[in-house]
Amino acid sequence: MPLVTSKEMFKKAYEGGYAIGAFNVNNMEIIQGITEAAKEVNAPLILQVSAGARKYANHTYLMKLVEAAIIETGLPICLHLDHGDSFELCKSCIDGGFTSVMIDGSHHSFEDNIALTAKVVEYAHAKGVTVEGELGRLAGIEDAVNVSEEDASYTKPSQVQEFVEKTGVDSLAIAIGTSHGAYKFKPGQKPQLRFDILQEVEERLPGFPIVLHGASSVIPEYVDLINKYGGAMPDAIGIPEDMLRKAASMAVCKINIDSDLRLAMTAAIREHFAQEPSHFDPRQYLKPGREYIKTLVKHKIVNVLGCDNKA
Ligand code: G3H
Ligand code: 13P
Ligand code: ZN
Repeated sequence: MPLVTSKEMFKKAYEGGYAIGAFNVNNMEIIQGITEAAKEVNAPLILQVSAGARKYANHTYLMKLVEAAIIETGLPICLHLDHGDSFELCKSCIDGGFTSVMIDGSHHSFEDNIALTAKVVEYAHAKGVTVEGELGRLAGIEDAVNVSEEDASYTKPSQVQEFVEKTGVDSLAIAIGTSHGAYKFKPGQKPQLRFDILQEVEERLPGFPIVLHGASSVIPEYVDLINKYGGAMPDAIGIPEDMLRKAASMAVCKINIDSDLRLAMTAAIREHFAQEPSHFDPRQYLKPGREYIKTLVKHKIVNVLGCDNKA
């Protein structure tokens, strides 16, 4: 099976009341952990690559690793550019074989966001590639961009119809209180999402797939291991899983997860070195990293996203 776009996945996810996991990938072990998990529970997958991941691992290496995962698993896999920030970057990924791109114009004015997104959509659709846009601004850190809480803003439901009509995007990322990274709420603050905004967006765009970024749960089991073995993340806090399940049952068809993968791999490697300080063969510590990622992704698919047996 070749790489697929997000089109069919989202149609089925919307109708079925579940979401597809969009997992960030940076190297072979991460790709193997995610795809082996999805294979065991027969789930469709979105593997997404940030500009930073592409710089780190190289476009061709990532492309070929994902192709290898398709050969090994036979699963429908969509290869997606995460947070594309320019037409040129989106074009390069489209020309290089990605089947989906995000153009993140959320830091521009509404008008400029529409113009940039529409330009990407025109190019992408001519090549059969799907496009995700974003309205509203999440707080948190992605690569070199650090959006403070003051600069973050919820999506305005009154803008979504005009944005989708004028750009032709296939899916829309919205800001309802999630944020990037491992520190999503202040210590003592009760995690909350604006489900009223999601509900209004859903009413204004019936049947249209919505995307949640910054949706890691910052699973305490991994944070505890990192803290136990020398790390200092006492205030890490994520999105409760019951909120993600609720979002997946509504119009949210794609849930982005990166930080949880990072935490799982780091926890495994720290734990490994605490137990085996003399090891120096990378296979010895990357293997448990890959296993922890596999366990995490299976848990997400079966217990949070609900996309098991939907491949
Ligand atoms: O939302 C951003 C993702 O977590 C990717 O992070 O830009 O550091 O690769 P990155
Ligand atoms: P997390 O940092 O919550 O994993 O979010 C990842 C994301 O939104 C990637 O685009
Ligand atoms: Zn994101």
